[in-house]
Amino acid sequence: MLGRKIIGIDFGTSEVKIYRKGAGVVLKEKNVVAIKNRKKVIASGNFAYDMLGKSPEEIEVSMPIQNGVIADVGKMQMLLSTFIEKAFNGKKIKNADYLVAVPTDITEVEKRAFCDVIQRSNAKVRNIFMVDKPVSAALGMEIDVTGTRGVLTVDIGADTTEIAIISLGGIVLSKLIPVGGYKFDSLIQSAIRKKYNLIVGDKTAENVKISLASAVEPGEEVIRVFGRDVLSGLPSEAMVSTEMIYEAINEQLTSVLSAIRVILERTPPEISADIIRSGIYVTGGSAMIKNLKECIEAETNLKVNIADDAEYSVINGVGKISEDYKLLKQVAHAVK
Ligand SMILES: Nc1ncnc2c1ncn2[C@@H]1O[C@H](COP(=O)(O)OP(=O)(O)OP(=O)(O)O)[C@@H](O)[C@H]1O
Ligand SMILES: [Mg+2]
Repeated sequence: MLGRKIIGIDFGTSEVKIYRKGAGVVLKEKNVVAIKNRKKVIASGNFAYDMLGKSPEEIEVSMPIQNGVIADVGKMQMLLSTFIEKAFNGKKIKNADYLVAVPTDITEVEKRAFCDVIQRSNAKVRNIFMVDKPVSAALGMEIDVTGTRGVLTVDIGADTTEIAIISLGGIVLSKLIPVGGYKFDSLIQSAIRKKYNLIVGDKTAENVKISLASAVEPGEEVIRVFGRDVLSGLPSEAMVSTEMIYEAINEQLTSVLSAIRVILERTPPEISADIIRSGIYVTGGSAMIKNLKECIEAETNLKVNIADDAEYSVINGVGKISEDYKLLKQVAHAVK
């Protein structure tokens, strides 16, 4: 049986989001930790993110989630402890239930890692429940996933894109591909380096993407970027155009489109009929790339709905489940 306290978590590769039953989303921070001399956490979340690419040797700044699963249990545990402390103003959370959104089809070992991180970060953990991220994202987009209407969701995050067909509260079909915002950033970095012999940092690349990236052939726009010249080694700058950014990320966007096509081709016909009526639901932070709606519509001939709060869909869905025991029993399962 469930207790009064439920803490919901979306361990995103780029950002961790935490929901508390009755209170709403209580934390959204970069999934980054800075550790000194291999043991002491000196910064976490957004503050640690600001240190990326700038820290001295004894400080290691790292991101413990990769491809949607925990790559470093120890660091994720340290980070989650600081997040929980922050989200609950230092109060110890005892006897809480946890609900975690996880990628579909993760292995038992990967599931275990999420449980270990939660159990080691907190005083007393009662139950741990898991829900598939696509189900949670759909609920967060206000879609009723428990009915017989089939739904197609596409979550384009930082490290992964997950495409899923959902019906009756469960996943009928899904595909996870290693494409997301980080890939776009690094392609932008490579393109700038190749064309201007200029090395720019991860954050600069992300900012360029947010300002200029477009999913369809863009108009003329340029932005000034700063970095280090490969040849002279000196600080330098260049003017980067929308056209160049479009070309840099185009291939990765094409692989998202191909993956959507593969899923559509395998979708049972009754569900295809539902998708024609409601369209495709696209979410995740990278769904905010400009003109993505037009791009997917042109490729699939289907209506495309881009989520309003794309980075929040998964955690909003986790929130909905936390507040509704009947829904929790339908779409989540206990792992502890
Ligand atoms: N306006 C924007 N345009 C393009 N990309 C954006 C925009 N805003 C955020 N992003 C990108 O969205 C990504 C973060 O999205 P999100 O929070 O959904 O990822 P995540 O859940 O942490 O990652 P994952 O689901 O892959 O584990 C980042 O790569 C960020 O650069
Ligand atoms: Mg995500």
